[in-house]
Formats: sequence, structure tokens, C-alpha cells
Amino acid sequence: MPIIEVRSLSKVYRPNTGAPPVEALRDVSFSVEAGEFVAIVGPSGCGKSTLLEIIAGLQSPTAGEVVVLGKPVQGPRTEVGIVFQEDSTFPWLSTLENVKFGLKARGVPPAVQETLAKEVIQLVGLQGFEHHYPRELSGGMRQRVAIARTLVLRPQILLMDEPFGALDAQTRIVLGNELLRIWQEIQATILFVTHDLLEALRLADRVILMTRRPGQIKRIVETAAPRPREQTPVASAKTAELANMLWEELRQEVV
Ligand SMILES: Nc1ncnc2c1ncn2[C@@H]1O[C@H](COP(=O)(O)OP(=O)(O)OP(=O)(O)O)[C@@H](O)[C@H]1O
Ligand SMILES: [Mg+2]
Repeated sequence: MPIIEVRSLSKVYRPNTGAPPVEALRDVSFSVEAGEFVAIVGPSGCGKSTLLEIIAGLQSPTAGEVVVLGKPVQGPRTEVGIVFQEDSTFPWLSTLENVKFGLKARGVPPAVQETLAKEVIQLVGLQGFEHHYPRELSGGMRQRVAIARTLVLRPQILLMDEPFGALDAQTRIVLGNELLRIWQEIQATILFVTHDLLEALRLADRVILMTRRPGQIKRIVETAAPRPREQTPVASAKTAELANMLWEELRQEVV
């Protein structure tokens, strides 16, 4: 049984300013198996963030439904964690406090908060920076804090919206490798939005390519490289071939 089922999902935003409605998604259907790593690519504004927010229960669809772990999504669920597209760390909290934040909100006892937060800080490689504030960290480290804040809640499903979007190419590769390691360690299911085709192909089991707005699924590609994988700056011949093919399809949507 799939862990996420997206069924004929459509979303139309109707601004209350009198501006015309925006059709963000049209008849999107796919499913994700437990333990899978699925990437989503598509032109800017095609509804990728909207799709993740609907799966997370933060937005409601106009038509269709999402079923997560066998139950229709009606609001945020503890089994589903999301890492947002924008830097979502709290600037007034240290790394440790940022990571503990969601545990505190769930009423976890302080001693347990401390233990769980430290474990996850270790997992994302931020040990030694527990008491630093976001302004004292690099962009890549802040991204790790954002990822740790979500991971500490132990979601079975991790929705990631361009989590490495603001990072340089080297840091993306390093964090991509770390994400693969963490994914295997915690055995989560990941849905990962990126605009980087090579990144999508290197990380994911399958890549979903979307059309321009209203976003529909144009193609789903199996990457099929053996695991464990290690990202390197130069892609394999097979990956490069798939990236060129995806780029051809994506180009038709962008121009
Ligand atoms: N809360 C909202 N209210 C009204 N319109 C919205 C809202 N959120 C998104 N939209 C519109 O829906 C469309 C899809 O936006 P979305 O953020 O889902 O795209 P995206 O694929 O994530 O883009 P990007 O790659 O640039 O992040 C856009 O035209 C956007 O203006
Ligand atoms: Mg987006």
C-alpha cells in the first residue's frame, strides 16, 4: 500500500482582492511507496510548493484528495514533517532551542527534549554549534538547523521544498550526501522539490516532472542507480543522459 496517494488533485487560488483566480494545480495524481525518495521538478510557479502544502495539510485542495498512511488528509499530522522553501529558523533562538521548539510545543519533558535534540544535532553534523544563533551560522548550517527541527519530530514522511535552494553547488552536494545517509538511517519517505535536475536524479528513486502552471504531471522517470549512492560533481553517463532528456521536456515548459 502506498504511503502517500495524491488523487486527481486540483487547486485554484481565489484572491479576495478581486484579482483573477490562479489555477495552480490541475488533476495531479501519483503515489509514493514507503521508504521511497521521490523528487519533484518543474518550472517556477507551477504549483510545487502548493502541492507539498496540500500533502502536509496546510492548504486544502479545490478538488481531489490526498491520502497519507491510509487516511485522507484533513490538517497537519504528526507523521508528516515539512522543511519550507524559505529559511525558517527562528533568529532569536539558538541551534539547540530551535531544534527543541517543536518538542516543547508537543509537551515533551525537558530532559527528553534535550536528549532528542542533541541526537539530531549530531545527525546533521552541527555538534559544537548548539549555542550559536542563526546569524552566527553559515547558510548551509542554517539549513541543517531547519532540517534538524523537522527531523527531531521523527516524521515518517519528510516533505522538503527546495531545502538546498539558497546554497552553493559544493554545499548542495555535501548536504545531499548527508541527506541520503540520514534517509537510510531513519528509514523515512522523502518527497523533495528542487529546480536542479541533476540533484533530483542523483538523490531520488523517481523524478516527477511537472508542466508549467496549471501544474500537471508531464513525466515520471525512474533513476534506478544502485544504492548507496554518493553524489559527485560529475554525473554518470546514464544520469547525464536522463538530465538532458528531462531538460528537453522542461525547456518546452519554460520557453
Ligand atoms: N497563498 C496563495 N494565495 C494565492 N496564490 C498563491 C498562493 N500560493 C501560491 N499561489 C500562486 O500559485 C501558483 C503556484 O505557486 P507555488 O508557490 O506553488 O509554485 P512553485 O512551483 O512552488 O514555484 P517556485 O518554483 O517559484 O517556488 C503561483 O502562481 C502563485 O502565485
Ligand atoms: Mg515553491
